[in-house]
Amino acid sequence: MKQLTITIPLVKKDEAELTPDEANLLEKAKQATYRSYSPYSHFSVGAAALLDDGTIIEGANQENCAYPSGLCAERTAVFYANAQYPDRAITLLCVAARDTEGNFTPRPIPPCGGCRQVLSETEDRQHQPMRVMLYGTEGIYFVNTVKDLLPIHFDTTYL
Ligand code: THU
Repeated sequence: MKQLTITIPLVKKDEAELTPDEANLLEKAKQATYRSYSPYSHFSVGAAALLDDGTIIEGANQENCAYPSGLCAERTAVFYANAQYPDRAITLLCVAARDTEGNFTPRPIPPCGGCRQVLSETEDRQHQPMRVMLYGTEGIYFVNTVKDLLPIHFDTTYL
């Protein structure tokens, strides 16, 4: 038997340490939370994707009374970006969320497993890393590639 350990490089910043591009993307992700349609969970998530030509695409979670038919903010933004700009890479994706009280979450908001899988394939498809920025009022996490959020990931090489 062997014990294997995977370590994930995470950078933690506070808002004051963000670059102008990062601060701008965060603002867009925060604004997107106000366009969430989340009458069931009352949890409002916003995502903003920065494309390699400077375009910013925003998404918010969209729920449905048939619960599994809804979609997370990250996938709303990324699918739209890929549908509208299939040849552009997403260089940075920012996620922010407000809780049931309407306050931004203290902890950085982690994308769900399904979103990680979609982000992972988007990264493979664009042949360049997508940085991910997870906002919380107590700190902002950065990873330099989606693979750091989804180690041991499933991809097309297994098919
Ligand atoms: N949600 C997102 O949009 N992104 C996340 O990272 C976590 C969860 C949404 C799905 C659902 O509409 C609500 O938040 C509560 O789970």
